[in-house]
Amino acid sequence: MIKTEFRTIVSEIPHPDALKMADRLAAVESHSMHGQLPVVWERAEGSSVWDPWGNQWIDFTSTIFVANAGHGHPTIVDAIVRTAQKPLLHAYNYTTSERLDYIEELIRVTPSYLEKAFLVSAGTEAVEVAIKLMRMNAMARGKRRSVVVSFEGNWHGRTTGAQHLSSNADQRSWIGYEDPGVLRLPFPYPWMPEAMSNPKLFFHESLQRELDAHGWTLKDDIAGFMLESYQGWGAVFYPKDFVKEVELVARDVGALLVFDEMQAGFARTGEMFGYQHYGVQPDLVCCGKGASSSVPLAFVLGSGYLLDLPSVGSMSSTHSANPISCAAGLANLKVIENEGLIERARDLGLQFHSELNSIADMSPAVSSIQGIGLVAAIITNGLGDMDASAIATEISWECMRRGLLVVHTGRESVKLAPPLTIDQAAMAEGLTVLRQVIVDVTARHS
Ligand SMILES: Cc1ncc(COP(=O)(O)O)c(C=O)c1O
Repeated sequence: MIKTEFRTIVSEIPHPDALKMADRLAAVESHSMHGQLPVVWERAEGSSVWDPWGNQWIDFTSTIFVANAGHGHPTIVDAIVRTAQKPLLHAYNYTTSERLDYIEELIRVTPSYLEKAFLVSAGTEAVEVAIKLMRMNAMARGKRRSVVVSFEGNWHGRTTGAQHLSSNADQRSWIGYEDPGVLRLPFPYPWMPEAMSNPKLFFHESLQRELDAHGWTLKDDIAGFMLESYQGWGAVFYPKDFVKEVELVARDVGALLVFDEMQAGFARTGEMFGYQHYGVQPDLVCCGKGASSSVPLAFVLGSGYLLDLPSVGSMSSTHSANPISCAAGLANLKVIENEGLIERARDLGLQFHSELNSIADMSPAVSSIQGIGLVAAIITNGLGDMDASAIATEISWECMRRGLLVVHTGRESVKLAPPLTIDQAAMAEGLTVLRQVIVDVTARHS
């Protein structure tokens, strides 16, 4: 049993009824939705999550990088409730003041080269839109092909185009064919000396190798480069030089530079967008998750020229720009600005990473800490007869049992992403739990 200001554990974890509910769900819902830690979310507020039986967790997940402004932020709840009570629940593509106010503000607060937005419901849709715009732009420029370059280890969503760009071959095997218009290049991991010693050369050599293998040229065949601002599974950032070089090449050959900001956007890394750490100017930016800190909202941002490539009516979606999503998105922007969440993620992030690095230094279970701001990944090592993924899973489960929710990746990483509004004392308590868990897991398997 645990009772502190931020955590309450009053039952066996997982709670037996949580397992029964999971079984009932599994009987009526595709099991593809399952696999999360067995916690029933009854209520979530700020950086706390409660189950129906009185257990309370410190949240280091923000669900999955969504609740950047905290769970149930009153400004966002109020915006949603006010819109619902107007009532205005849906308006298709007719003009609404919610859509106008939101997009105007979005364009005002984002860098000036992002002039227009196209709203959708899910991140994967935003990626599909970016693929379409990259290819339409290549056609408009008279390129012979419209090949999109993506990077190993990156992940962009589950619809066909997004899955083609993602590097996980198993996950795209259901498609039954490989998209001949996608080129995947190796990712410059910090633990690869050949990439770190000269990131620019590493990029050029791997790009040229692939172009030669296909008989393609950059100018004639490449439509764009799609980069996840950092690799999702392990919060691994690219070397800055590498990304600057991708930008240079893209500009030189009339290809687009596109960032998938799903996990990195909306202040998470101590900048409005994660790509800003690289000092580049993307042509298109795909956003979702933290854009509303709540209800479904995703979009692509870019120049007026690119966003207007599709003709009137040829790029729309039934639930695009739902008034409730727009109201939530606008409220989310207000919270980010009024509560200084960009600076907060930066400042708290320094403490967060300093403590995580100190935990890493004392345990052979941790290979490295990745990430910037309030996103981090503990990259695990195998210990004894446990491989690195099993160690990460054990850490995730043990944290859950002690009142701390972390992102269970199913890989050799434990991801951490508290709401950016988290109380400093709650963050410190969560890190103390994590330290003790890692000490205990290390002792158990050493
Ligand atoms: C980097 C990245 N891109 C795209 C997506 C897809 O977003 P959605 O699940 O909203 O379709 C995700 C979701 O996890 C993501 O992390």
